[in-house]
Amino acid sequence: MAGQSDTPYVDALHAYADRKPGRFHVPGHKGGPGADPALVDTVGERGLSLDIPALTYGIDVGDEPTPFREAQQLAAEAWGARRTWWLVNGASQGNHVALLTLGHRGHRVVTQRNAHSSTIDALIMSGLRPTFVSPELDPELHIAHCMTPDALDRALRDTPEAVGATIVSPTYFGAVADVAGLAEVAHSHGVPLVVDEAWGAHLPFHEDLPAPALSLGADLVISSTHKVVGSLTQSAMIHLGHGDLVEESVVDRCVTLVESTSPSSLLFASLDAARRSAATRGRELVDETLRALARTRDAVREIPGLDVLDERLAGAPGVFDYDPLRLAVDVRGTRVSGYELARRLREDHDVLMELAGENVMVAVYGMGEDAGAASERLLAGLRLAVDAATDANGGAESAEFAPPPPWGELVMTPREAFLGPQEVVAARDAVGRVAAESLAAYPPGIPNVLPGERLSAETLDYIEQTIAHGGSLRGASDRELRTLRVAVES
Ligand SMILES: Cc1ncc(COP(=O)(O)O)c(C=O)c1O
Repeated sequence: MAGQSDTPYVDALHAYADRKPGRFHVPGHKGGPGADPALVDTVGERGLSLDIPALTYGIDVGDEPTPFREAQQLAAEAWGARRTWWLVNGASQGNHVALLTLGHRGHRVVTQRNAHSSTIDALIMSGLRPTFVSPELDPELHIAHCMTPDALDRALRDTPEAVGATIVSPTYFGAVADVAGLAEVAHSHGVPLVVDEAWGAHLPFHEDLPAPALSLGADLVISSTHKVVGSLTQSAMIHLGHGDLVEESVVDRCVTLVESTSPSSLLFASLDAARRSAATRGRELVDETLRALARTRDAVREIPGLDVLDERLAGAPGVFDYDPLRLAVDVRGTRVSGYELARRLREDHDVLMELAGENVMVAVYGMGEDAGAASERLLAGLRLAVDAATDANGGAESAEFAPPPPWGELVMTPREAFLGPQEVVAARDAVGRVAAESLAAYPPGIPNVLPGERLSAETLDYIEQTIAHGGSLRGASDRELRTLRVAVES
């Protein structure tokens, strides 16, 4: 039986490539000979030879447990799940799977309103009618934190037909929810708790990190393994918890429903390898990264006008704990916006942040990178960018940003609005109409408008302003927001 130091799936792929079988199957590059030199340059000869289709004997079909099964079993053990599925369309696919799974139990769900846009897409796919719960909003930082157990309890009382609840933890900014409290509330109402832990795949691997959702009673957990743990972009996992409110066979059929019939073996291999690294060296890697990040935080706070988000945030409404493997920089003291500092970092120093907002910029660190060396570059760029921006600004107050406007009233389900009768109108004529599409200013990709919600002038102004500051728009058919798709109400 394989252990955590093994990589059964990766080994099976290499064994296949080494024996050089006659490849009369897809992909058409045939392991390299049919590939353009640019592709060989990009993926490498070995990588191409390992790019094989699903249903290959000895890898994912044949004697059980196949290497594919064995490797996913190892992932389940490493993350503490009853069962784990690998995903090739990111944590986005995990959210699709989770809501389609809940859709087997009924038609209503309680959902955190600042969910990732993939959760909203999943509401469209599943047809579930959401009762939205506002996260706690930070009045000073102007960012959204997590949902509280009390808020969940109220929503579940108001929605007795709800068949599940979905929350996000950690947030982009590192705030962690009271998952144990939320799971207790959900279970007291007889429904499963789904946790979008896209940003928390590293949590099980060090005792100084907040406890992972699976260990706190979550029923289904979505994990974006590529974000912090180091698998290839687009690879992720969904983990089934140990309760009995979610059926394994239902999750399985939902994974199949939203998966290509040709999942990438390279993405799968990266998950097998990242799991080994996390399970066998995760503690040591996180330890080094946490130490380097603690030093980085101190250095950031010495830059005039900058502060950092850290464990001091824990205890604020909607923040139970803080993930120290995230560097969120509070820029308010510089009187320059995070958008402006991130632009200077990018244009003048080729330093690219994960996210920039009005008051906070987020730098993401991988679990296994040399965080000390990476931080030197970030700190050097930050010092110069802050100096240049404050000089240019002459100490003036930064431009006032419109606060995020209140979310619109939900008039129909996201699915009814997305698929029902609709028309395209000029953006200025869309005020007062019901949106037939999501509008999510990216980053952070949290929809400002959902299909089914009534549009307001403030919301449209806010999105325009984010785009003007270099953000982009996801979900809209016209990414420049000149026109909008709205529902035709009968
Ligand atoms: C909370 C959350 N959930 C899900 C996702 C989607 O993850 P992926 O890009 O792996 O599909 C993201 C991406 O940023 C996210 O922030």
